[in-house]
Amino acid sequence: MTASQIGETTLFVCTTCRTQLADAASDQPRAGARLLAAIETVPTEQRVGVAVVGVECLSNCNRSCTVAVTAPGKWTYVLGALDPDLHVADVLTFAQLHQRHEAGLPAWRERPEYIRKNTVARVPTLPAQR
Ligand code: FES
Repeated sequence: MTASQIGETTLFVCTTCRTQLADAASDQPRAGARLLAAIETVPTEQRVGVAVVGVECLSNCNRSCTVAVTAPGKWTYVLGALDPDLHVADVLTFAQLHQRHEAGLPAWRERPEYIRKNTVARVPTLPAQR
C-alpha cells in the first residue's frame, strides 16, 4: 500500500493552550491559536495527507501547546510543549510520517528530535469491530 492509498491523518491543534509564561493578560491570541494559524500558513502542498483541525483543550494544559495526531485504524499521539514560533515544521513532519505509515507508527529514528522528547502519550487503535 502506498502513502497516497492510505487515508488522511488528522492533526488536532488545541487553540486554547496558553504559553508557559501565561499569556492571559496579553491582548495577543493564545499560543495554541497562534500555533494553528502558523500551521495553516504552511502551503497545502507541504502538508499533503494531513487535515488540520482546531479544537479546544486536549487536557494537556500543563505542557502546552498541545496537538494530537490520529487517523482511523492507526495509533494516536499526543504531543506537548510546542512553541508556535519553533515547532511547526516538526509537528508537520511527524504528522506526515504518521500518515505514511500503515499503522500510524513512525520510526523512532525518523521522528524530529523535539517530538521524540515531547510525546506525551500514544494510544492504540480500537480493536476491530465484531
Ligand atoms: S488548553 Fe490546550 S490542552 Fe488544555
